[in-house]
Amino acid sequence: VTYNVAGKPSRVSHFGLGAFIETNINSGTDGGLYAEIIRNRAFQDNVNNQANQNDALGKGSLLHWSGTSQSTKLSLSPDNALSSALPQSAVVSGDRNQSCGIANPGWYGISVTTQPHQLSFYARSPTGQATTVPVKIGLYSNDYSKTYTEQTMPLKLTGEWQKFETTLTPSQASSNNNNVFAIKTTGACRDGFQVNLVSLLPPTYEGTVARQDLAQALADIKPVYVRLPGGNDLEGNNIPSWFNWTNAVGDLKNRPGRTPTWTSGWNTEGLGLMELMDLAEKWGAQAVLGIYAGYSLNGEAVPKSQLGPYIQSALNQLHFLLDTSGSWAELRSSYGRSEPYKFDQIEIGNEDWLGAAINTYGAYRWAAFRDAIAKEFPQLTLIASTLKNGVEGAKAVDDHMYSTPNQLFEFTEGMDSTSRDVPIWELEIAVINSGLTNDTDIYSGPGRLQHPTLIGALAEAAFLAGAERNGDIFYSAAYAPIFQNEGPNATQWTPDMLSFNAGQMVKSTSYYIQYAWGNYPIKQIHDASPSTPTNSSHIYHSFGSNSQGALVAKLVNANAEQRTVKVQVGNGSKLSSSGATSWQMQGKNPQQANTLSNPNAIVPQSSSSGLPKGASLGSDGSLTMTLPPYSATVVTLPLA
Ligand code: AHR
Repeated sequence: VTYNVAGKPSRVSHFGLGAFIETNINSGTDGGLYAEIIRNRAFQDNVNNQANQNDALGKGSLLHWSGTSQSTKLSLSPDNALSSALPQSAVVSGDRNQSCGIANPGWYGISVTTQPHQLSFYARSPTGQATTVPVKIGLYSNDYSKTYTEQTMPLKLTGEWQKFETTLTPSQASSNNNNVFAIKTTGACRDGFQVNLVSLLPPTYEGTVARQDLAQALADIKPVYVRLPGGNDLEGNNIPSWFNWTNAVGDLKNRPGRTPTWTSGWNTEGLGLMELMDLAEKWGAQAVLGIYAGYSLNGEAVPKSQLGPYIQSALNQLHFLLDTSGSWAELRSSYGRSEPYKFDQIEIGNEDWLGAAINTYGAYRWAAFRDAIAKEFPQLTLIASTLKNGVEGAKAVDDHMYSTPNQLFEFTEGMDSTSRDVPIWELEIAVINSGLTNDTDIYSGPGRLQHPTLIGALAEAAFLAGAERNGDIFYSAAYAPIFQNEGPNATQWTPDMLSFNAGQMVKSTSYYIQYAWGNYPIKQIHDASPSTPTNSSHIYHSFGSNSQGALVAKLVNANAEQRTVKVQVGNGSKLSSSGATSWQMQGKNPQQANTLSNPNAIVPQSSSSGLPKGASLGSDGSLTMTLPPYSATVVTLPLA
């Protein structure tokens, strides 16, 4: 195929890579991106998801906790609550003359490293009488045969809750994740102790509360936008479980959390509103803030007459994040952040084309939020979650697409003729089904993927190429979901961009495609005409110039055979190889995936100087390249 590429750009590209942080899907934030090691740290987890769904505080439990000795007795106590947000705590008691203690196995295990870990917990005397309870605190193998770190602490307890803090620095790392954190009395248990909000944090990503490897992987894709906090988790399974931002800011002691949408445990909201905003900022990205729009997943919509408090909450949330002075700015400052956050887009609702949502979004919910927010925050672009059924005045729309590889390849072929009316943000997109089993339902059929495959990632690359070369109307795209904890029953949705356990992380083929688009962005679009149409060549392209004026060529070969392509630049321009860079991902098996047991099956190659293998520049300044079978290639070449 020969591509005749315009030497001069025709349009500015607004396209910026997105990342979508949906809280708690696949134990991906609590248990994942949120670095907290202790699971059910404030005794809030639902037992078998049986919490009263209308009770925002749930029932709580001792799930994931155990006694450190046979004689230990653990009980859940509603007495002497630490706070109204964290009403239950654990009383550790048992045989008065034997040692007693409490242990936690983390989120499907604990990977012990030799870095300093910050420990904090609250404790009181269960009898209310002043007493000193000497305890040992440490990280151990789960049969206690190995001690990685242990400290003795005299807990001087009274009837009041007190916060205890220390640093635990293991002297050796673990070779597996079968480990526990424990607090146990050094001697006789006597009256025992009462604990709550037990938190153990390893070193985190750049001063945030995020797990280093996961947050770094996201930083590395260089997202321009970060959509947060959901997704379905924004909506909640029912109205009382909506993402109420006021419960997701401030001291952890005052965050009640809520019934989760995805997992059976509990959303701690420890990775709360400010923590998510801080992360987006550290990544150099702007948040696209999801605003709850009065609809939850059980099909209930807040009636028009009762929408007022939800709209007011959204306005308060925006004042809290954006104000430079006044009481909301002061509250934010009191939580440690004086500067307002900077973002220009919010999304009202999530997927309001689905289910019963469609009946009320266009009818009254969209307009009610639109008018109130536009009045107080005219600078914000309000993204609608659909344009269907009476939605008016939307300046942008978020469209989602889950597909098979072929569905996505076919879709990309029509992208050049997308209507230019309303900017499109594709803030959830992924190949989720192999397409090999011709499932009538790609969500529940046998072709549903467990992990991103090579061909799926190439289809996503073709989509990103289409979005980028139509970047005058496609403003962003984000893979969804990102995180997958691979612990038993931890996953509700596959495939995912990054899978992990307590100590390991795997970058999928889809991750690498996101990396390429984030790291080799374009600013301006160069029109290109291929000598063979895409639908018969199965080679997908995008050409643009970057901020230095170099040509960035992205080419996706979805064929099982190698293909030769030639890139000729018009307008008297020539390509030059000095300062050229390249990135390429390829593989022989289109169904290949990277997994925890085979993490490096497909790994791209990049070069900061020079063309990829099989590429050469002609004396006329044209580029000829052999694209390997099943490959994505990005080449950056100065334009002379
Ligand atoms: O990404 C997983 C889910 O898919 C999101 O929560 C929802 O918005 C979509 O249906």
